[in-house]
Amino acid sequence: MMKVCIINGPNLNLLGQRETEIYGQKTLSDIEKDVKRFAENRDIKVDFFQSNSESEIIDKIHFVKKDSEIKGLVINAGAFTHTSIAIMDALKALSIPVIEVHLSNIFQREEFRRNSYVSLVSTGVISGFGPHSYLLALEYLSKNLS
Ligand code: DQA
Repeated sequence: MMKVCIINGPNLNLLGQRETEIYGQKTLSDIEKDVKRFAENRDIKVDFFQSNSESEIIDKIHFVKKDSEIKGLVINAGAFTHTSIAIMDALKALSIPVIEVHLSNIFQREEFRRNSYVSLVSTGVISGFGPHSYLLALEYLSKNLS
């Protein structure tokens, strides 16, 4: 069974309560359940992680680097997407596919959201499909990893 890690950044623990007109009604735990169901049907094991702390996210990326069973990383770095060179550098050290996801379409919003440090090092970006963005990322990984 293939293993994939999904990292969620700051404020994503508030999904369902925060700017629901942009991010929708689903909580992160609803998304985790949907993602795990989708993954199980494709024989993928998911390590689903969230942190509000930049250092914990970097430590998690280092953990992903060490675990040779993890074959792909999906990351929604939240606002760190637009600010964190440190997360970008940590991702650069990985040799597995990195899929950047966003619930909202970051290119359609404020100017500052159009810059993504994560995009500079990711395999691809999925942005604007709500919780479905995560499933599209898993779909890609399930078809392109063995
Ligand atoms: C987000 C977009 C970011 O700009 C924002 O800071 C978030 C969520 C998204 O999933 O649409 O926290 O990553």
